[in-house]
Amino acid sequence: MIKAVRGTRDLLPPETALWNFVEEKVREVFRAYNFHEIRTPIFESTELFARGVGEETDIVSKEMYTWEDKGRAASEKGQMITLRPENTAGVVRAYIEHKLWDRGLDKLFYIGPQFRRERPQKGRYRQFYQIGAEVIGPSTAGSESPARDAEILELLATLLDRLGIKDWTLELNSVGCPKDRAAYNEALRKALEPVAASMCVDCQRRAITNPLRVFDCKVPEDQSIIATLPLISQYLDEPCRKHFDHVMEILKFVGVPFTRNERLVRGLDYYTRTAFEFTHGALGAQNSILGGGRYDGLAEQLGSPQPAPGIGFAIGEDRIVLALQESVGDIQPKPDVYIAPLGTGMDREAARLARELRHQNVIAELGDENFRLKKSFEAATKIGAKFILIVGGNEVQSGIFALKNLASGEQVDVPREELAKKIQS
Ligand code: HAM
Repeated sequence: MIKAVRGTRDLLPPETALWNFVEEKVREVFRAYNFHEIRTPIFESTELFARGVGEETDIVSKEMYTWEDKGRAASEKGQMITLRPENTAGVVRAYIEHKLWDRGLDKLFYIGPQFRRERPQKGRYRQFYQIGAEVIGPSTAGSESPARDAEILELLATLLDRLGIKDWTLELNSVGCPKDRAAYNEALRKALEPVAASMCVDCQRRAITNPLRVFDCKVPEDQSIIATLPLISQYLDEPCRKHFDHVMEILKFVGVPFTRNERLVRGLDYYTRTAFEFTHGALGAQNSILGGGRYDGLAEQLGSPQPAPGIGFAIGEDRIVLALQESVGDIQPKPDVYIAPLGTGMDREAARLARELRHQNVIAELGDENFRLKKSFEAATKIGAKFILIVGGNEVQSGIFALKNLASGEQVDVPREELAKKIQS
């Protein structure tokens, strides 16, 4: 038997109804905040992620699905391709490629699969889905303003509330600008020098190449050392400090609760200033339901002739659904009516009636003229239909149909033209 590849999974009904519910709610909220959808390819040049996300990150150094796409003709060069592990780099690439800076501030959202070769477990998959958004544009359009950061965070609080997800915690930090980070990295390097030898091999390498990435370490023995390292907050310059204060001030004013976590640095290299994660207690080890932050230098990093500061987030849709599953249960819509053709020649009559009813937005399931009445009833009950409608020769001739409520057992005779109304009442 051929099975789905490790770390990937099939999403089946009735669970897919929950996915649709989440996506519908999310689209509603994005509409209210004037965000518009962007769709970028699921594979991009490997270089995009190396330059955007960072060579030293876990994502780029060990989790990407990369292959060489050979040219089909002598004129076509081969290139290294990667299944996107995240969508921010792709959105910024598209922004630059289509010179979107002429449009002022762009508020974009996306929903789609991402790919990371992580160790699979509950809430962590190799193909997973993100719902993300990016606010990006020239500084003159206000893209750098702390008001945008606060708006994004308020949007997320609203979104989680609308979805009915309770008990979330917003963890907030500022990782400063590149200048602050250079000073901080230097301080980390110094602090790590005497202790790195007793850490894991990854940390030994990070201590030299990109000390900030030591915070991505999950090795339990290393955590006591990591806890003693200096904090980024001590290295923020005045503008970064002010920016962050302004974000926190707005959040307090509009009533979005948050916790300041000075150890939150995020696992991707492009972040500047505001960085955040929302966690949820019910999710266990994979408790981060979403993450994001500001990336003011990313466009230039990817070769943009114009700066395009931005801020965004990505929600782990798989994790949102997991968090909702217990509280919401099965929300797959049940059919309104099971139409049971009774006897030879009735399939086509039932089909015609189903067509009429479906045009009036009745959810109808269509039976089979070869089924005996008992079997039709069993089928109707099994799928949870509200009514069963018998279509036999007499009914067709008279235009009066027997409609039975399967829960109450009540049966009424209904003229053809009134069926839809009766079924939906
Ligand atoms: P990230 O923190 O790498 O950020 O991912 C965001 C969210 O995706 C995580 O909080 C988690 O819920 C979900 N996620 C990540 N990996 C997996 C996985 N293997 N299985 C299931 N869910 C997963 C980003 O991707 C940034 N692009 C977010 C961003 C947008 N920053 C600025 N704009």
